[in-house]
Amino acid sequence: MATLSGVAKRYGTGTLAVEGVDLALARGDFLALLGPSGCGKSTLLRMIAGLIDPSEGSIAFPADAAARKSIGFVFQEPTLMPWATAVRNVALPLELAGTPRREAALRATDMLARVGLAGFENAYPRALSGGMKMRVSIARALVTKPRLLLLDEPFAALDEITRFKLNQDLLQLWQAERFTVVFVTHSVFESVFLAERIVVMAPRPGRIVTELAVPAEDRATPEFRTSAPYAAHCREVSHALESAMA
Ligand SMILES: Nc1ncnc2c1ncn2[C@@H]1O[C@H](COP(=O)(O)OP(=O)(O)OP(=O)(O)O)[C@@H](O)[C@H]1O
Ligand SMILES: [Mg+2]
Repeated sequence: MATLSGVAKRYGTGTLAVEGVDLALARGDFLALLGPSGCGKSTLLRMIAGLIDPSEGSIAFPADAAARKSIGFVFQEPTLMPWATAVRNVALPLELAGTPRREAALRATDMLARVGLAGFENAYPRALSGGMKMRVSIARALVTKPRLLLLDEPFAALDEITRFKLNQDLLQLWQAERFTVVFVTHSVFESVFLAERIVVMAPRPGRIVTELAVPAEDRATPEFRTSAPYAAHCREVSHALESAMA
């Protein structure tokens, strides 16, 4: 889907945020970028999205050039328009792309139902909880049916119970639709719960130190979050992160 080769980013301030990143993203991957604050996770994600350019190296979408134009981005803050209802917030990307307003509203309503917000179409953001606002934000990112979904610590501001629920629902959406996901987090537990590929990064300069796998058959364990394989993967990822920081 996308191939990053020798990617580096030096900001105008002189900060070398990311260096020497090689990464191949396959269609249908669920990949987590895990690392401490300042290791360049957001920088890498913004480069994949094409929001900023690498200062060295390249990011190519070889087999799927259309994927570059088919990206959904979810930020840490839900960034909804306060003057618009939930359904209009979700419909906006479609309207901007020229979809007639009626059809956009129908698709937005459907997407809201898929993220568990049926019945909240006409609520304004101020009437929604933090978790519900994040659901609206995810619906807005998915309504255009992107092939690549990029999320930058989307659940960091939420309480643990809400976060677990959103983790589960995101996983279900991905299992149903199989878009490609790159999910930025600094939570070991979240990365193991969600991702099949966990890319561990270290700071100064930001770089990839190792990659770990969570096989699908482990995730299929009932009650995965409290299972022995889950605990074992969390331990493995924590150790990798510790050695990366050392
Ligand atoms: N626009 C910018 N201009 C200059 N320096 C920047 C800019 N954005 C990020 N940096 C610097 O680049 C480095 C990596 O930042 P980045 O935001 O990518 O890290 P991060 O891993 O996403 O951190 P966090 O987990 O805190 O969000 C940091 O040293 C940061 O100060
Ligand atoms: Mg960041």
